[in-house]
Amino acid sequence: MKIVMLGAPGAGKGTQAKMIAKKCDIPHISTGDIFRENIKNGTPLGAKAKTYMDKGLLVPDELVCDLVVDRIQQDDCKNGYILDGFPRTIPQAQALEDALTKIGQKLDYAIDIEVPDENIIRRMSGRRSCPKCGAIYHVVNNPPKKEGICDVCGTELVFRADDKEETVRNRLDVYHTQTQPLIDFYKERGVLQEVDGTKSMDDVFGQIVSIIF
Ligand code: AP5
Repeated sequence: MKIVMLGAPGAGKGTQAKMIAKKCDIPHISTGDIFRENIKNGTPLGAKAKTYMDKGLLVPDELVCDLVVDRIQQDDCKNGYILDGFPRTIPQAQALEDALTKIGQKLDYAIDIEVPDENIIRRMSGRRSCPKCGAIYHVVNNPPKKEGICDVCGTELVFRADDKEETVRNRLDVYHTQTQPLIDFYKERGVLQEVDGTKSMDDVFGQIVSIIF
């Protein structure tokens, strides 16, 4: 199963991708997580990515495409994978399509999680993430058992630097101009599926499960 998750920042792509990856036993590949890991480890890629991420801008295509094309050809991806946060521009989608064609593969689904902008701003202010294992929480909708501490690994949760309201508004603008066109790109290829992301996390997961199984 090869799936791409689409949707605005904060639509719930990461939350759902983790649930699907567990159910299908396939890797969850998040370009945002890959960049954050590189920033944490002080790599040259992390330093370059940070200058864009802090402003809510996209990291240039040339820093992302090869990285993902490489990753999906690793051994653990032979039964499929779920891409979260990639592609985000038409050139990225084209690069993915070209790479898949070259290795005789094709995407099964592009799942678009739809959430209006006003819900997004509210959600992001309450998001807390685990910097160690990547688990995602929300102070109201999905709180950890112990306030501020990750249920999975016990690490102190953080508020993402790019979740400040002003940066979220920039990310939404970037989403509407650069990423939303991918909805038509995948509609034309017959793989687009849309789900209502304003429902509860379990309900959204149910909608996705009924599409892929
Ligand atoms: P990235 O990390 O990919 O961020 P994003 O796409 O903006 O998405 P988010 O992680 O913010 O949100 P999400 O949709 O995963 O929502 P989540 O499940 O966490 O990218 C960050 C940056 O990296 C980019 O801005 C860019 O600079 C760079 N980058 C990454 N990939 C790139 C690429 N391919 N090209 C160029 N640059 C790239 O949920 C959000 C919150 O809502 C959580 O608190 C969650 O608990 C809660 N929630 C989830 N579902 C529900 C629900 N159904 N009801 C209520 N609350 C919910």
